[in-house]
Amino acid sequence: MGESKPYGGKLVSRRIDKGADTTFDTRINIDRDVLLNIEQIATGVFSPLEGFMNREEFESCIDDMRLPNGLIWPLPIVLPVSELICDDIKSKNAKKAGLFYESKLQAILKIDGTFNLDKRSSAKKIFGTDETNHPGVRKWLSQSDYSVGGEISQITPMKYDFPDYMFTPLQTRKMFRERRWKTICGFQTRNVPHRGHENLQRIGLSECDGLFIQPLIGWKKRGDFKPEAIIRAYRELVQYYYPENRVILGTLSTAMFYAGPKEAIYHAIIRKNFGCTHFIVGRDHAGVASDGKSYYGLDEACRIFDNIEQELGIKTIRVDTVYYFNKKKDGIVESLHGLNKEDYQIISGSTVRDILIKGLKISPGLMRPEVAKVISKKDLIS
Ligand code: ADX
Repeated sequence: MGESKPYGGKLVSRRIDKGADTTFDTRINIDRDVLLNIEQIATGVFSPLEGFMNREEFESCIDDMRLPNGLIWPLPIVLPVSELICDDIKSKNAKKAGLFYESKLQAILKIDGTFNLDKRSSAKKIFGTDETNHPGVRKWLSQSDYSVGGEISQITPMKYDFPDYMFTPLQTRKMFRERRWKTICGFQTRNVPHRGHENLQRIGLSECDGLFIQPLIGWKKRGDFKPEAIIRAYRELVQYYYPENRVILGTLSTAMFYAGPKEAIYHAIIRKNFGCTHFIVGRDHAGVASDGKSYYGLDEACRIFDNIEQELGIKTIRVDTVYYFNKKKDGIVESLHGLNKEDYQIISGSTVRDILIKGLKISPGLMRPEVAKVISKKDLIS
């Protein structure tokens, strides 16, 4: 197996050429989510997207999970704007917008129409619910009502919070080649690593030459872990527990949706663009719960790949096992059959969070001691 081809055939590059025209006839102030997504589009992380979705792309994505050209694309990449901005674009018949973040010109948008996001009805299609207890829905509903589509040309490459851990797809592809890895397994996470994560990563390492652990460090909900804690924790895990030269740790700067199975596909496509040949999907991938009830079936993210893996062109390693840890001792198990249930607890990010909040000691069965040592409840997003 060779390096994974970019999704759609070619790696998109939307960084502006030297000397190119950077004039614009209207100005749009953008938020941090859009800023991050400009970087992802410009460096090909979202290939084949060349910009923010226009109406046709948006509708096709949320109705059919595909782009108008037929390629599977499950989640919307949009640039929300107010009605006022929309009116301004229309009245000026503006063709190009300057996208500004903190008063600095970031990119030029070649305007390809504006449209109403119909946030309530689109939320139902995207998330399968419009309940505001769902953090992704809440965020979706809180954005502006309209959106402007079109190709972008990035002027200012993003300044990274963790430059040592930030790689573009061109860079990761080069790193994989230099290491002569033929098969690379991508791992998405929004959490500090527990033993369940480690188990999945070891399965990945047993099937592939290299493992690319890529924590997502864009917007996340309250109670999730801060990026610096995740990086700190993974540094320990990689240093003490993984074979040298088989693992690369890098970040992904884009927002979570918490859209479960659809987001698993989106995460797989992104890792394909980074050059991964394989992608790990576990239990309740990108899922979220309210009052203890998960919005998505725990094995749904694994099952959604049943008929589309070939089409996506990335192999999934699917593990929807529920792991339990021994509250007193080292070690994890996959089944409580024949064991004293009282001694065991389910392994999950929420378990780690609850233990930290209560100020209890983290069992080595749940998390490696070296990892547990470097995290605290201050690392939770408030
Ligand atoms: S996610 O939102 O990025 O999916 P998280 O960082 O917790 O959340 O999970 C990273 C990956 O590990 C996902 O594929 C998830 O399904 C998987 N995973 C997390 N916990 C478990 C578990 N206890 N059993 C199986 N898979 C798990």
